[in-house]
Amino acid sequence: MNLTNKILAAVALLAFWAFAAQASTSDDLAKRLEPVGQVCIQGKECPGMDVAATAGGAGGAKSPDDVIAKHCNACHGTGLLGSPKIGDSADWGKRAKEQGGLDGLLAKAISGINSMPPKGTCADCSDEELKGAIKKMSGLQ
Ligand code: HEC
Repeated sequence: MNLTNKILAAVALLAFWAFAAQASTSDDLAKRLEPVGQVCIQGKECPGMDVAATAGGAGGAKSPDDVIAKHCNACHGTGLLGSPKIGDSADWGKRAKEQGGLDGLLAKAISGINSMPPKGTCADCSDEELKGAIKKMSGLQ
């Protein structure tokens, strides 16, 4: 640990002590820490996140463009990690053939495959929303 880190650690510790001193009981302290320590777990209600989840417009359905821009483009925009690139119909077509069509690709997108994370990181995307994004990226119908 270099000097800067030591100073930072000391400042952080002091700040915590000052904060802890204000909380009269440990219950009180736990309550104050709560909003900071909240963790979102997939499949569970996540307070505060419902706004983001329903921000897709009327009815809450996310458009393919929205899903792609927010989730898929990070990898599929450039072919990162060996992902099929958006618009590379040859690569997508080959994969569709291997998986038995669009629905096969959808199944892989939901479960994840190799470096492809489950649901392409869009945990709250419906199957239809994922399918829309796949159609748009691949050009498959
Ligand atoms: C972290 C990077 C990453 C993100 C984000 C991502 N993908 Fe992928 N995706 C990959 C990679 C890598 C592959 C290739 C996996 C392989 O074949 O080894 C892939 C492959 C796929 C495939 C083809 C599967 C197959 O069976 O060949 C589909 C369909 C797909 N992604 C859909 C999506 C969708 C839809 C999104 C956005 C909701 C998304 N991906 C987001 C990395 C990503």
